[in-house]
Amino acid sequence: MTYTARTFNLPELKGLSADQIAVHLALYEGYVKHTNLIMEKIEKLKEQDAEGNTYLINELRRRFGFEFDGMRMHEYYFEQFEGGTEAADSASPLGDAATEKYGGWDQFIAHIKEVAGTRGIGWVVVYFDPKGRTLHTAWVSDHELGQLSGLPIMLALDLWEHAYMRDYKPAEKMSYVDAFLSNLNWKVVESRFLGEAV
Ligand SMILES: [Fe+2]
Repeated sequence: MTYTARTFNLPELKGLSADQIAVHLALYEGYVKHTNLIMEKIEKLKEQDAEGNTYLINELRRRFGFEFDGMRMHEYYFEQFEGGTEAADSASPLGDAATEKYGGWDQFIAHIKEVAGTRGIGWVVVYFDPKGRTLHTAWVSDHELGQLSGLPIMLALDLWEHAYMRDYKPAEKMSYVDAFLSNLNWKVVESRFLGEAV
């Protein structure tokens, strides 16, 4: 099988230009292409000379998580803007979980921003742990390093510079984070939570 790049029905965003989003979507499509490419290359190398190509095949396998998670994380990212901005409901089941973990909705948002201040390229990811019945907010380096195994993703905030450098300078990273949060359709995030937690 091969993966196909998704199209996203994105509204006009405040503080994130159409040009910025276009550049970012093109980059997402590159991850889809390379996910397919790795699978294809491994098969070809095995067909040609499985033993002689062992090292090459191993190295391609080592890169698969980077390309696959690069593809999938961007899908979580862009679909959060679909449907236009919808405010969060702090009285929702997600709001209750956030209050239980972080002490309140505002503290939850402050925590996301704090983790977003991590130096480096990567993601802030909010997960729900169905076994622990709790939220976790983690820093993921690149696209795959530090992902919490098996936990469904509630929210994904891209903090690679490519996500904001058309509109913001590196020192303005937190303005980008504010723009990201203000454009979110929180109904998407809440429905992810309802799909896993209830
Ligand atoms: Fe990105």
